[in-house]
Amino acid sequence: MTEIPLTRVIASKEKQLQIRNSVSNAVNIPGVAHIASEKDVDALTSLLDNPEISKPIYTLPQQINRNTISAFINKHIEDRALGEGLLMVSTDESGVASAYYDIQFWPQWAACELGGAIRGDRQGAGQGSDGAIAAFSWLFETIGVDLICETAALDNTRTAHLLERIGFTYMGEIESQLADGGVRPSHYWELSKANWYRRLLKK
Ligand SMILES: CC(C)(COP(=O)(O)OP(=O)(O)OC[C@H]1O[C@@H](n2cnc3c(N)ncnc32)[C@H](O)[C@@H]1OP(=O)(O)O)[C@@H](O)C(=O)NCCC(=O)NCCS
Repeated sequence: MTEIPLTRVIASKEKQLQIRNSVSNAVNIPGVAHIASEKDVDALTSLLDNPEISKPIYTLPQQINRNTISAFINKHIEDRALGEGLLMVSTDESGVASAYYDIQFWPQWAACELGGAIRGDRQGAGQGSDGAIAAFSWLFETIGVDLICETAALDNTRTAHLLERIGFTYMGEIESQLADGGVRPSHYWELSKANWYRRLLKK
């Protein structure tokens, strides 16, 4: 298994504390998603109970059901209290889950990894890119990370396209740790805050 992030720059104590506090106090990505709580168990289970959505994502429980999703949400509530993780859900006009975002933070390196998915009927129309860009912007500007890293299964072409168009740098193949203890080969990318702002200035 490969430990990520590959790039590790030690953050100042002040920065580490600021990131932990921002994560612990986060309630939403404005207009995009809210923190998942017990009341989201059914909606998130419905969203993820589809192998086309959940299979490409190595951080999800191996079995998707109400119990595993409830435990998944509660683990993230504990991680949020430590300033080390967030689980967020987007809902549509009918209150049905349309996307989720799972973020792991490493405050010591001012870094994080974002995973997630959007509902099948919303895929392939640019909404995944829009949601990802909103989340990346929020992570750099509101949470204050300096580095975002991403992994994807080797055959996940859409994620590769999306990340490279946004400006992520491809850094090679790694082995991702699965929830059941196994490993999965993954492609791996990073985006620094400096490159994110460089990209915005070019527009
Ligand atoms: C990955 C995911 C979030 C992308 O969202 P999306 O709305 O489907 O993707 P978009 O429409 O924004 O397209 C993303 C890119 O893939 C390309 N693309 C879309 N459909 C494609 C297809 N069937 N084959 C190849 N490329 C495709 C688009 O052209 C776009 O490339 P561009 O940015 O260079 O224009 C979404 O498909 C999803 O939730 N998939 C299942 C879970 C998953 O794979 N999560 C990511 C795990 S890291």
